Order: sequence, then structure tokens, then C-alpha cells
Amino acid sequence: MKIYFAPLDGVTSHIYRNAYADFFEGVDKYFAPFISPCHNPKLKGKEIKDLLPENNNDKVRLIPQIMANNAEYFVKGAKQIAEMGYDEVNLNAGCPSGTVVPKGRGAGFLKDTYLMEKFFDEIFEKLDMKISVKTRIGLTDADEFEEIMEVYNKFPFEEIIIHPRTRVQLYKGEPDMEAFDMAYRISKNKLSYNGNIFTLEDYKEIESKYKINSVMLGRGLLRNPNLAEEIKQNKKIEISKEKLRKFYDRVFDDFAADMSSDKHLLNKMIEMWNYWSYATTDQHKCAKMIRKAHNVQKYRQAVDEIFEKFI
Ligand SMILES: Cc1cc2nc3c(=O)[nH]c(=O)nc-3n(C[C@H](O)[C@H](O)[C@H](O)COP(=O)(O)O)c2cc1C
Repeated sequence: MKIYFAPLDGVTSHIYRNAYADFFEGVDKYFAPFISPCHNPKLKGKEIKDLLPENNNDKVRLIPQIMANNAEYFVKGAKQIAEMGYDEVNLNAGCPSGTVVPKGRGAGFLKDTYLMEKFFDEIFEKLDMKISVKTRIGLTDADEFEEIMEVYNKFPFEEIIIHPRTRVQLYKGEPDMEAFDMAYRISKNKLSYNGNIFTLEDYKEIESKYKINSVMLGRGLLRNPNLAEEIKQNKKIEISKEKLRKFYDRVFDDFAADMSSDKHLLNKMIEMWNYWSYATTDQHKCAKMIRKAHNVQKYRQAVDEIFEKFI
């Protein structure tokens, strides 16, 4: 089984990916958070920086992701991605954000299957690279998914990664396994499963039900960075306190070197600890300790205390 690291915008940038790959094993592909090509001829500097092969270490096999509903913009972005040396591009058909959905992008892309088909006709004709898609199951109702799958079935996708929730479900509640079952029955393309795999047991449940080649893990890997290796070895593996501390410090140091102000850095670390605090014995208290650390020195003290008392 191949393990994919899910894209999490604002979290799994090259800084996180590189640190992760230096410390942990088991991830076969990393999906980069989405970029949004627009009318400008070139991608933004920040977007290019995250994808440039020289900014991603050799252990990171990266698949760039584009969010677009305009085929011309998608093709333009994908061609720049190909120039960087990538042979695959992934389409984001799932972002639930209120700033993109009304414009027909992210999960909003799924609302009109006629336009979806036109979009795919054009990009498959104009691009000479592998195209995969990461998709939700609809905007408001899982009933929408069969028609969406019928569109995907008309095109030779590298694979279809399904996060079986509608847009309105955001990241809450249980994934809709009936919708995934339906896709599994009718898909002509290779499928990958994504959603709520937080433990080895969660993974085993998926593995026992479906013959698929890959699963994608997001929050589960952030909470427990050993999860990919646990899945590969089929056993729980403890991370030593020392290793975890070194990893967290590396992520902090690399973000510190990259960010212009301590305020941005501390906000980034608050976001990290929303996930990392799951590895402590008091998740809410530890996340709060980090939120209350208003400068770098206090942040370091809070991390010292967490490692002393809660890990
Ligand atoms: C903060 C955040 C940012 C995300 N950014 C992206 C993104 O850029 N592209 C994408 O396809 N999905 C994005 N997602 C969705 C995740 O890739 C994944 O589908 C979701 O977290 C469900 O998987 P999980 O239960 O394993 O975490 C994001 C999710 C979160 C919580």
C-alpha cells in the first residue's frame, strides 16, 4: 500500500515536508498545497518557491496541485510545473472555503458536470502529463456524486483521490463510506481513499474493505508522524521524546529562518500545535500553553514544559 501525505495549505509547505522526510519514513508521495494560476502569465513567487525541486529534498516525491475551473489557467500553471521537472499535476476539486466555492473552484468545481467535462476535454487535450484529481463527493448532497464519477470515468486520470464528504460537511463528522462504495464499484480509474485515518486501526478498516493501491493521510500524520511507518510495518511504533523534540525544533527553526516576523512565526506554531498537541497527555491544555506564549522565549519555555510534563 502506498501512503500519500495530504496537502494542507499553510501547514505542509516545503519546510514541513523536508523536515518530516528527514525524520520519518513511510510516505511515498507528498501532495503540495494548491496553487491558483490566474490571468497573470507566471505563477506567484511564493507558489514557485514551494514547488521548486531545489527547495524540496530528495526524499520528497512531490505532486503539485492546482485549483482552477478555467482550463486555460490550469494548462498555463501545469506547463510551468512541467518545466520545473514534474510529470504529474493534481486538480483540487474539494476545497470548501467560502472564498473559492462561489467562484466555482475547489468543491465549487463539482456543481456543474457539463462544465467539468468541458474543462477535462481541454486539459487532457493540451497537456502531456499525468493528471490526477482530489475530489469531494459533491457540494451539498452525496447524491451528486454518481454523476460526478461518470464524468471522471470519461477521462484517463492517473488516479482519483476521494475525500468522501460534501462541501457542507467541511472536515466534520464521519466520511460517507456509501459514497466511496459507489465510486469503488463504478470507477474506471484507480482510486485512493482519504479521510479520518488517524490510527493503524482506522487504516486496517479501509484496507480490509477495498482493494486500492494507496491511501492519503492528512491530520493523522500531523498528529502522529509515525503513522505512515506504522501502516507499512503493521504495528504501533513509539517515537522517542528526543526524536519528537528534535523534529518539532527543526520545524520551528526552519520556519523561523523563513518568516519575516516573530508574530507570524508564533501564529504558525499555534497552527502546528493544534495537531502536535494530540501527542500529549492533555491536548487542550498544551495547545493553550502555546497560544499564550507571546514571544519566542515564552514559546520555547512552553515547549520545554510540555515535554517535561505532558509527553
Ligand atoms: C488546514 C487545512 C488545509 C488544507 N489544504 C488543502 C489543500 O491545499 N489542498 C487539498 O486538496 N486539500 C486540502 N485540505 C484537505 C486535506 O488534504 C484532507 O483532504 C483533509 O484534511 C481530510 O483528510 P484527513 O482526515 O486525513 O486529514 C486541507 C485541510 C486542512 C484542515
